[in-house]
Amino acid sequence: MTVRAIIGAQWGDEGKGKIVDRFAEDVNAVVRFQGGNNAGHTLVIDGHKTILHHIPSGILRDGVENIIAGGVVIDPFVLLTEIAALEKRGVIKDPSQLLIGSECCVIAPYHKALDVARETNRGATSIGTTGRGIGPCYEDRVGRRAIFAGDLLHPERLREKVAQSLLEKNALLVALGAQEFDADEVVAQLVEIGEKLKSYIRPANIRVRQLLDAKASILLEGAQGTMLDIGHGTYPFVTSSHTVSGSACVGLGIPPSAIQDVVGITKAYCTRVGNGPFPTELEDAQGQELRDRGSEYGSTTGRPRRCGWIDAVALTYAARINGFSSFAMTKLDVLSGLPILKVCVAYELDGTTFTNEVPVEADDLARVKPVFREFKGWAEDITAARTYAELPAAAQEYVNAIEKIVGVRVAYVSVGPDREATIVRNS
Ligand code: GDP
Ligand code: IMO
Ligand code: MG
Repeated sequence: MTVRAIIGAQWGDEGKGKIVDRFAEDVNAVVRFQGGNNAGHTLVIDGHKTILHHIPSGILRDGVENIIAGGVVIDPFVLLTEIAALEKRGVIKDPSQLLIGSECCVIAPYHKALDVARETNRGATSIGTTGRGIGPCYEDRVGRRAIFAGDLLHPERLREKVAQSLLEKNALLVALGAQEFDADEVVAQLVEIGEKLKSYIRPANIRVRQLLDAKASILLEGAQGTMLDIGHGTYPFVTSSHTVSGSACVGLGIPPSAIQDVVGITKAYCTRVGNGPFPTELEDAQGQELRDRGSEYGSTTGRPRRCGWIDAVALTYAARINGFSSFAMTKLDVLSGLPILKVCVAYELDGTTFTNEVPVEADDLARVKPVFREFKGWAEDITAARTYAELPAAAQEYVNAIEKIVGVRVAYVSVGPDREATIVRNS
């Protein structure tokens, strides 16, 4: 039995979905514990691409239970579309494969409208959210006016909650120049969708503890990344949930001692989508080259991702917060053919040098000067490598140097999007 958390070590899109799918080969369950459909996790099996937004990345494995736990916010309309597509492909055959937590908070249409209206009104200072209503939905949870997935099955309770919520939401929407919502219409839509999702909605957190009692092997699938954490990321340019490993405990209702292993996922370089500071960003032709080589366009919104060199300062910070036992480094193949590679080993700010902590205040982080170490690149195509020894010496040196700087072993190296394009290091 192992409970292993998979956590984004950068600004999201590190390849968590690919790694979870790979590890899901021999587990009993995969559980999402935070975030919502702001996530886009890509799985490629024999060249066929699947992008998941809510559904855990164990869904393509036979015999794996997939659980959307209480810490996740769900957009029932999007979730139904996701389920329907997988049912059509014959992937989801039975509700036992997927559990939607009755305790998950529901993203209603007015949450999305509020997200978009706020962003529009922020203008030049916008966060660059995914526009999926994630922030407003989590706000309602903290404000103690959330709608739960379980409420979708109780129209009277739902009507009361929606009416109460719209008292405030409509006033806000009007103030922001957006359209009001009609409570009856919203309730009717939500009841209809609840009926369609009914067979999947059950208490998630109870199920997770049952699995723990049964000594099951469980993967806890993080969404977003450490630098987007609401408390430890580059506030205010963050998402609205805790994305770090500790969040898995509160998202599921399990003790910290239940988690034996925390794997940090990092790209071999770095990307960010949305606004906010990014010390190693390449805003020139080289950044565009990385974007083209790595197909760096968002899985959720299709936006071009900002690209830059790997940031060992931010990775060390992430390792300290999450307690990574190892890294899985993805997209090493994307660097093939680049003559020189750079690794950020320190930040300079007003005479202070940072190597293992990040000045997360956005204004400070925007002013840091990254200090780079240069490495020789390699010319070979590495996508067929399946052992570490098959990688060119320069690629090994690059990976070895990063694990030495950060102090966390790179136990897995991914050399292509496909499930099989993964090196597990044994020594
Ligand atoms: P996630 O949100 O962390 O699951 O990551 P995304 O799915 O949003 O983005 C990662 C992208 O990189 C996806 O298109 C993956 O198919 C792709 N990918 C993952 N690992 C590798 C790899 O090792 N090499 C290459 N070339 N692509 C990869
Ligand atoms: P996965 O799980 C990358 C970013 C958005 C924006 C900020 C806030 O695929 O790695 P939000 O809609 O959450 O309020 O937006 O967070 N963001 C992500 N960036 N990957 C993600 O998820 C993200 N989810 C949110 O671009 O900058
Ligand atoms: Mg993604």
